[in-house]
Amino acid sequence: MPLRVRRKLPVLTSVFLVALVTATAAVAANGGFTPETAHSPNAERINSTYYLILAFTAAVFVLVESLLVVFVWKYRSRGRGREIEGAQVHGHTRLELIWTAGPVLILAVIAAFVFYKLPGIADMPATAGSDPIDITVEGHQFYWLFRYPNGAVSIGTLHVPVDQVVSLKVVSGDVIHSWWIPQLGGKLQAIPGRTNHTWFEADKVGTYQGQCAELCGIYHEAMTAKVVAEPEADYQRFISKTAVATLGKQEFTGACATCHGMQGSGGYGPDLQTNSILTQESSVATIVRNGLMRNDSSVMPPVADTWTPAQIDALAAYLKKDVYKGPPSGS
Ligand code: CUA
Repeated sequence: MPLRVRRKLPVLTSVFLVALVTATAAVAANGGFTPETAHSPNAERINSTYYLILAFTAAVFVLVESLLVVFVWKYRSRGRGREIEGAQVHGHTRLELIWTAGPVLILAVIAAFVFYKLPGIADMPATAGSDPIDITVEGHQFYWLFRYPNGAVSIGTLHVPVDQVVSLKVVSGDVIHSWWIPQLGGKLQAIPGRTNHTWFEADKVGTYQGQCAELCGIYHEAMTAKVVAEPEADYQRFISKTAVATLGKQEFTGACATCHGMQGSGGYGPDLQTNSILTQESSVATIVRNGLMRNDSSVMPPVADTWTPAQIDALAAYLKKDVYKGPPSGS
């Protein structure tokens, strides 16, 4: 072995060992290497498909890389001159049959498994009966809005009862977004002019995090979503009382604050605290419904284009009472 290689060997070995050790830790902590733990039957099926494919690809990877190392070692030059060709090996009918038929079989197994799992990912379980909880999910630049069966609305956080099938209608009024709560199922695009359907059934009380998964504009990264799965009584209290009582605040923090700052003191969008428009309900309604265009480019998306009058009223009341701080000092 040349001296240079021999000197580097301990370094390379320790790098390799550190990589091995940290890889184990990363996988143990999830670390982005494995799908998140499934908490809905459809997410379960997506994960099992992932692990089946991972098993085959990992086995093929180990096989190919081990053979590579064995052959590099076995057929090394052993001091043979560079200009002299090594032994030539031709043809091995049985091996060639195996490496042709093997992949065909593997692909057939994967395809069969996927087709077996697919219906349970796309379709609601029969246990949902005729009465799942229907919720409409609206993608907006840059927030998610949820409409409940009783007409209640929430923004950014979807409340659902645990252990019940929730049927989602996913829509968008502006651009394409993508609804995705990894622990509760796969992605589904929110496409303007189309209604897409998905569902989930959270198996555990808790909060499940998600993120819009389609680049939808400058604040795409801020378009997060949370699903809170809670006991039936808590869910009923939320949609009958809390959602209504906190609507204005939810609208401001979920939609306006993304650009205008949590207190409305400005961010990407201008400071609102001293803007007297906040005290004029009809002006507020016009701006949030239609957005703002300047020099042919949109400076504010029509965030409230689908809102009901009650929703606009709730926002206007909140802006006037909790965001507006009076005219700028000195004027
Ligand atoms: Cu909406 Cu990205």
